[in-house]
Amino acid sequence: MIKIKNIPSKIIALNGLIMTVVLLLSGCSDSPANNSGQPDDFPEKSYQVDETGHIIQTEMVVSDFEPSSACQECHPQHYDEWQQSMHAYAMQDPVFFGGWNGEQQNRPETGERFCLQCHNPVAFVTGTSLTGNADANEFLSSDLPDVIKDGVGCDICHVMTGLSPSVVTDDQVSANAEYHLNPGENIKYGSIETPISTDAHESQFAPIYKRSEICLPCHDFVIRGVEAEITFTEWNRIPGLAMSGGLACQVCHMAETGDGHHDHRFIGVDLDLSIPAEDNPTFNAVTNLLQSSLEISMGDPVYTPPDEFINATIVDIPTTITSLTAHAVPSGVSFVREIWIEFQVRHNGEILAQSGSISSNSEPLDKDDPQLLLFNTQLLDENGDPIGGVTDAHGIVNKTLGAFANRYHTYSFLIPNGLTDDLEISARVLFRPFYPAALEGTHDNLLDNLPVIEMASLTQMISAP
Ligand code: HEC
Ligand code: HEC
Ligand code: HEC
Ligand code: HEC
Ligand code: HEC
Repeated sequence: MIKIKNIPSKIIALNGLIMTVVLLLSGCSDSPANNSGQPDDFPEKSYQVDETGHIIQTEMVVSDFEPSSACQECHPQHYDEWQQSMHAYAMQDPVFFGGWNGEQQNRPETGERFCLQCHNPVAFVTGTSLTGNADANEFLSSDLPDVIKDGVGCDICHVMTGLSPSVVTDDQVSANAEYHLNPGENIKYGSIETPISTDAHESQFAPIYKRSEICLPCHDFVIRGVEAEITFTEWNRIPGLAMSGGLACQVCHMAETGDGHHDHRFIGVDLDLSIPAEDNPTFNAVTNLLQSSLEISMGDPVYTPPDEFINATIVDIPTTITSLTAHAVPSGVSFVREIWIEFQVRHNGEILAQSGSISSNSEPLDKDDPQLLLFNTQLLDENGDPIGGVTDAHGIVNKTLGAFANRYHTYSFLIPNGLTDDLEISARVLFRPFYPAALEGTHDNLLDNLPVIEMASLTQMISAP
């Protein structure tokens, strides 16, 4: 039985504590928000799209943008890190190509542009058509310019001169992202206030590079009013953060390294699954990030588990899961993720009771288990039935763990008669980037490499009578 106990005063107290820590960590509680983010005189080049997301007019051409390889010589570390990032993978991912092709079939007028507005913004703002690329290999071996093959490359971020709103679309599902860019002038904007001068380009300090809002254009997406992928909004709803500008995305996803530059691997949760997950250069960093995202402990604010059990009775084991993350867990494409608790009770090594156990990484979870605690979202069609494709969503069931929130969850099980040894209780919070059916049949080779990563765990003994 799932019991979620509501203890408002304790929750508020704990959240208050976390918020204080957050503000102290960010060190920004005393610097008031600069909500304009940027002086008005930062230049930009304009573009206009029609109702299908196609360019009607643009001041930008592809050659205004430099490929990431042009930065490698002088910024080798940034380049190497970016190459390992999902931003570089945005146009290499076989799952992306599968979904993009499906979108182009279902919505021939709008589908090609729609996905590219975030996965290939240079193609979007310059009106470069990328139709007819069946898969990543065909695309990457085509004679398209490198800057198009880059996906989310250096220049799209470093020519940004203003902040964007979220991508919001209705039933039309057409591209309408609003970027503020000044490419083609050989000016790179960034967060260094007094950059060393170089012949390669002019460098210009811009305060927006320290702010979460610079990630907003692509990390926030609402469709038919459904909050489908809203990482920025989740962050923005944390009381106090948006106003103070504290704990920006960059703090966790672009940490400052020993030599003072900022990590450009943009560690998240995804890996290239065309190779074994552990072979990815970012595997350990992804594991570390996941292990920093939440904690699990035994007990809840009103109930601690018993030290000793009584045979032939029902035992309640309360647990508390506490988020340490500044947005929902999981976030973004939360509808393909699974984060759940594997709970097991053992007596002499033998399992007496369990929830959320799987025997292989690609085995589905038992959704009929009433004790299963699963953090994810489920997209719904117009009839309220579950669907997989985000562009067809008319509704969403959100079962994520909110930013810095607690979840109380009690496991109950019957102890059989006659047990004489101690019980071992173990709970592990597990993550996998895809629910198996999302890959089954379409990407079976990726399913073979699907990792299950432990985010947190605990074990506790309960003594025999
Ligand atoms: C010939 C060498 C060279 C090349 C090529 C080069 N840069 Fe730079 N860049 C520099 C130097 C030097 C700095 C100053 C670094 C410092 O102050 O620590 C710099 C600074 C920057 C900054 C920081 C600006 C600021 O004020 O925060 C950005 C962003 C940047 N470069 C982006 C790029 C991008 C993107 C490319 C490729 C399209 C590129 N650079 C190519 C040498 C180069
Ligand atoms: C306090 C640290 C922290 C901050 C601040 C933060 N994140 Fe995260 N982020 C994490 C952790 C930990 C994870 C892994 C757990 C998860 O998936 O939510 C993560 C995961 C992600 C993911 C993958 C989500 C998924 O489950 O698919 C994306 C995308 C992301 N963050 C983007 C952002 C953006 C954009 C911002 C700013 C609006 C941001 N993050 C702010 C810690 C942070
Ligand atoms: C998704 C957006 C994004 C992409 C892609 C990106 N950068 Fe950055 N870059 C940033 C942000 C944001 C900062 C500022 C981070 C901070 O100060 O917290 C930054 C900072 C920098 C700086 C200043 C030094 C530092 O590390 O703080 C340089 C130089 C730079 N980037 C070069 C590059 C190069 C070269 C590439 C491609 C290989 C690249 N960037 C790709 C967003 C991006
Ligand atoms: C131009 C669009 C764009 C901008 C701007 C952008 N991102 Fe992304 N980001 C993407 C796309 C697209 C992906 C997913 C690529 C893929 O997996 O195919 C992504 C992936 C990520 C991931 C990896 C998520 C995972 O599940 O592993 C993280 C972390 C992330 N971005 C953080 C940031 C942060 C922090 C910023 C701001 C400094 C930012 N992004 C700005 C488009 C963008
Ligand atoms: C509003 C910007 C935006 C649009 C539009 C968009 N994406 Fe993404 N996409 C992202 C971001 C940001 C991420 C990373 C989020 C995360 O990791 O949680 C991402 C991640 C992905 C991923 C990799 C994550 C995974 O593990 O599944 C795939 C595949 C993908 N998108 C496919 C598509 C397809 C297909 C379309 C068009 C139907 C599309 N996207 C439209 C921003 C966008």
